[in-house]
Amino acid sequence: MRVFFIGDVVGKPGLRILSKLVPEYKKENKYDLICVNGENAAGGFGITRKSASKLKKYGCDVITTGNHIFDRKEELEEIFKLEYVIRPLNYAESFPGKGFTIIEKENQKAAIINIQGQTFMPKEPKTRNPFNLVKECVESLLEITPVIIIDIHAETTAEKIAIRYFLDGQISALVGTHTHVQTADEMISPSGTAYITDIGMTGAFDSIIGMQAKPIIKKFLGDKEQQFKLAKNDVRMNAVEIEIADVTGKAKSIRRLEIGENS
Ligand SMILES: [Fe+2]
Ligand SMILES: [Fe+2]
Repeated sequence: MRVFFIGDVVGKPGLRILSKLVPEYKKENKYDLICVNGENAAGGFGITRKSASKLKKYGCDVITTGNHIFDRKEELEEIFKLEYVIRPLNYAESFPGKGFTIIEKENQKAAIINIQGQTFMPKEPKTRNPFNLVKECVESLLEITPVIIIDIHAETTAEKIAIRYFLDGQISALVGTHTHVQTADEMISPSGTAYITDIGMTGAFDSIIGMQAKPIIKKFLGDKEQQFKLAKNDVRMNAVEIEIADVTGKAKSIRRLEIGENS
């Protein structure tokens, strides 16, 4: 199974580059499954039905999310009626939506789980400790398919690596999102689990993680009233391509990509 996982899409520039690259890449590389983190798809803050359906139309099969979905609380009930949009498994049980989904492509099933880390993350939405919850979830999904891919939406590298060791050999891939900065540590463990600390961002790179620099600097200087504004220039897509053995669920390769809009 060939999987393509795209890092946090930030607003219109991110959606625009994906409208071009997802259909192109899907056709050229014959991906079986395309996943994307969509927590910043709607103007950089949260996700709406409109932005989710655009990502689906471009060819994405599953949309994972994270803390920014809380920027649009009014959308939560509606957005999670879409069966292809998931949210971190370790949000409160009463939170709308679900923490995993199963996709079937040409008789091959793959499970995608979304979790959120707890270290240095916003207090809302509240999270439960992800470790045992995700392990239980993986064990029950292994009865359905050996192909399990997890998006860990978290700030700290150590927490992401700890989950990797905790689930090593049980899952096909653990990919990080949330920091918007791609890391160069992609690897496959001896037990066959592919890993990257962060896939990165799909949006405007002439920015501070997708937003215009000036208001963010002013905020760091103490001006609490600053509103963040979406950046526009130097648009790139960050993603990873993972090859997984269908029968064993073990990862065979992982490759990271950064593609500019005009390349
Ligand atoms: Fe994000
Ligand atoms: Fe996030």
